[in-house]
Amino acid sequence: MGTLDGRVALVTGAGSGVGRAVALRYVRAGASVVGFDRNADGLARSVEFSDGAMVAAVGDVCDRATLDAAVATAVERFGGLDIIAAIAGISKTGSLLEMSDEDRDAILGVNLVGVWNAAKAGLPALLERGAGGRILACGSIESVLGGAGLAAYVASKHGLIGLIKSIALELARTGITANVISPAGVDTELLRAVVPPASIAHIAHSTPVDRLSTPEEVAAFFEFMAGPETGYMTGGNLVVDGGVALLNSHTTGQSWAETPVTVAISDN
Ligand SMILES: NC(=O)c1ccc[n+]([C@@H]2O[C@H](COP(=O)([O-])OP(=O)(O)OC[C@H]3O[C@@H](n4cnc5c(N)ncnc54)[C@H](O)[C@@H]3O)[C@@H](O)[C@H]2O)c1
Repeated sequence: MGTLDGRVALVTGAGSGVGRAVALRYVRAGASVVGFDRNADGLARSVEFSDGAMVAAVGDVCDRATLDAAVATAVERFGGLDIIAAIAGISKTGSLLEMSDEDRDAILGVNLVGVWNAAKAGLPALLERGAGGRILACGSIESVLGGAGLAAYVASKHGLIGLIKSIALELARTGITANVISPAGVDTELLRAVVPPASIAHIAHSTPVDRLSTPEEVAAFFEFMAGPETGYMTGGNLVVDGGVALLNSHTTGQSWAETPVTVAISDN
């Protein structure tokens, strides 16, 4: 028996990285999944990996009509919707002075308004099912920390926290919960597109656990949080960061931004 048997999930960003891993994990856990992405080829590959168990819905989280259509697919094909996993995201680096207004709007549009759109499109179907619905948004370590050259991304990911806290309160008496899951340094196309290889090594080695995470590792938290045992957590932010948020360059005595953290472990 799977942890998500009989449940129906909409997963945005299911064509790559964390979203693909979550969609496939939900399928393995027994859920029926509508995978949503603007990248039709990536989404088709995810469906292949799922042995056809996932239904593809090509669309853009900035376009509510395409999300409405994906929710309609979930209802028509699988009889309803229980889980919204809003994972689609983009990033681009650039200081406040360098970044164009268009890039700022694109980042805020996908990462923040896109989650709003997914939640708004799916909520009527969740309410129709009654208690047990789950809204999960993919945050980031940048939901809790600042980042030079990442102001738009950081603002979008901080904004998610406020959005989800508020949705959680609005739904608190319905039995539907809303939470953020915030990874750091996941080995995906997004990370490799934005960060040069040398800096990826730096990110890995300056993480206390000394490595990046995998999409599958992050997906495990999305499965648990989508499940039936998490009803008492709502409006929360589950940080899955290998200890990054614990670091404080004042107290480690090292410049975290420049020096990999090395920890000597004694046998005693
Ligand atoms: N990779 C990391 O280090 C990292 C760390 C923290 C948080 N995250 C978050 O994880 C989430 C997934 O990122 P990833 O690393 O798997 O990246 P990824 O690029 O591998 O996957 C992102 C997916 O989202 C899709 N997408 C982008 N914009 C879209 C839109 N407007 N409409 C529909 N689909 C869209 C892309 O086509 C892609 O398939 C993002 O929200 C990201 O911010 C990633």
